[in-house]
Amino acid sequence: MPDGYVAVIGSLNYDVLMKQERLPLKGETYVADTVFYEGGGKGANQAVQCAKLGVPTYMVGKVGNDNFGDILLEKLEGFGVHTEHVGRSDKDTGLGVVHVLGDGSVYASIITGANGDFGPEDLKKMEAVVSASRIVVLQLEIPVPVVEQVICMASRHGVYSILNAAPAKAIGREALEKVDCLVVNESEASFYAGETINDEKTAISHFEKLTALTGGTVIVTLGENGSLLCKGQDHVVVPVAKVEDVVETTGAGDSYIGAFAYGKYMGKTDEEACRFAAKVAAVTVTKVGAQGAMPLLEEVELF
Ligand SMILES: Nc1ncnc2c1ncn2[C@@H]1O[C@H](COP(=O)(O)OP(=O)(O)O)[C@@H](O)[C@H]1O
Ligand SMILES: [Mg+2]
Repeated sequence: MPDGYVAVIGSLNYDVLMKQERLPLKGETYVADTVFYEGGGKGANQAVQCAKLGVPTYMVGKVGNDNFGDILLEKLEGFGVHTEHVGRSDKDTGLGVVHVLGDGSVYASIITGANGDFGPEDLKKMEAVVSASRIVVLQLEIPVPVVEQVICMASRHGVYSILNAAPAKAIGREALEKVDCLVVNESEASFYAGETINDEKTAISHFEKLTALTGGTVIVTLGENGSLLCKGQDHVVVPVAKVEDVVETTGAGDSYIGAFAYGKYMGKTDEEACRFAAKVAAVTVTKVGAQGAMPLLEEVELF
């Protein structure tokens, strides 16, 4: 295995998921059917996928000084993610409350809490972690200025950076140009391209707007329609890995990105890493949930 590690710099959330037939009416206390408590946050999810595939993975982020924070760290360690660079904040641990209705529709609210609490001291510590890493992975569930500074740090230290620009937000031009690989889904791609991108055809017709933005590699994931790997004026369609029994697609994007980071760490080309990531994400959608559904390397090899 190569030297160094993957550092995922991002969010950690404690998710409470309730399955219920419908939403309560105003003033009503509705009795839900079941509840699941899960570790979440795009950052933590991507770290879990990467660690489950077997590369050394460090989570860098913030949780609160509360029980939810303790539980999240315990869960991450259980999946093999190193947590010594997760700091504690006076703010509450990030929280998600998700209602999944009988027809499959999802209503979610989140508290940013500790995920929004980064000061100059935290950035100083991050520089040490980033400079010794091989790959850094970022998303936009922590403050954008932090993400921008980490991208610039990575570039300064010659560390490969992957930015999953989700949820889509305005990012400074300098940081975007320094990112080695930008990963967006259809709705995020639409935000950055300023055009509606909702399938392979529209993604292909507008991909040069995205590559012009970063000057580097852009991956557009298209859900059940696969993904598109774009570089300059070239693009490659990466088909979805077909699975019969799709159960739930939450975490598909995070699984894909964690697996792409693994691929790059192992020295695969972008295209090889995308094909591998598509396979990994396909296994994830055959199970309920995100972190728990993500496969180990053995399970991917069996697939
Ligand atoms: N139903 C599916 N069957 C197989 N693979 C899937 C399915 N849905 C998503 N994937 C894989 O996961 C990747 C990421 O999914 P996508 O929905 O685009 O991400 P996000 O969760 O960020 O919206 C896709 O590019 C595809 O490779
Ligand atoms: Mg999607």
